[in-house]
Amino acid sequence: MSRYKENFGRFTIRNAEGADAPKLFYYMEHVDRETTFLAREPGEFAESYTLEQEEKLLAGWAQGDEKLFLIAETEDGEIAATCGCFYSGGRRRARHLAEIAVSVRQDFWRQGLGKRLMTIQLNWCKEHEIEKLKLTVDTRNTRALGLYLSLGFEVEGTLRHEGRLADGAYCDMYAMAKFF
Ligand SMILES: CC(C)(COP(=O)(O)OP(=O)(O)OC[C@H]1O[C@@H](n2cnc3c(N)ncnc32)[C@H](O)[C@@H]1OP(=O)(O)O)[C@@H](O)C(=O)NCCC(=O)NCCS
Repeated sequence: MSRYKENFGRFTIRNAEGADAPKLFYYMEHVDRETTFLAREPGEFAESYTLEQEEKLLAGWAQGDEKLFLIAETEDGEIAATCGCFYSGGRRRARHLAEIAVSVRQDFWRQGLGKRLMTIQLNWCKEHEIEKLKLTVDTRNTRALGLYLSLGFEVEGTLRHEGRLADGAYCDMYAMAKFF
């Protein structure tokens, strides 16, 4: 079981639990409108999951050891950031691999949240004997690239037209990885 809780400045960083599902819907809707650098179009998160499904997922992750899904909360209980890290697959040949995704609400950028969340996840990977941690990032996302490079990720290659936005524009992505 991967339980985590710490105070980080005015934020509390902890596992998301089932009861956080309504706040998480609000958060996802909000961040998906702020940037095109996340994987979803605005509104798509709520189309993909019901509240009940999300509650179950969060409760399962909080109990299990396959995924660490963290939120950073303000003193008012609002979600300021999320970061999820999970094994790439159940097969033995992929057991050394994990993937990670992070987002921070724009009002809380540049306060160290992204870096702190990722650093906690890197420790989780070491504890779980992960050898390679993977992510993809839009080639124009200089902010996220700066974060990943500062944490020791390297660019493995470019995935062309890996995303297509609602207006038809294509996005190229870097496949990045950190080796432990
Ligand atoms: C990318 C993101 C997660 C960074 O979060 P953050 O909390 O603002 O980042 P931090 O304050 O922890 O900064 C960490 C590092 O990021 C880098 N960084 C942050 N802002 C940057 C900028 N404007 N330009 C270049 N690098 C930047 C720096 O390396 C910084 O380290 P430093 O402060 O020691 O110099 C956040 O901007 C975000 O959620 N963006 C929208 C969603 C997104 O793009 N997610 C990633 C999808 S792959």
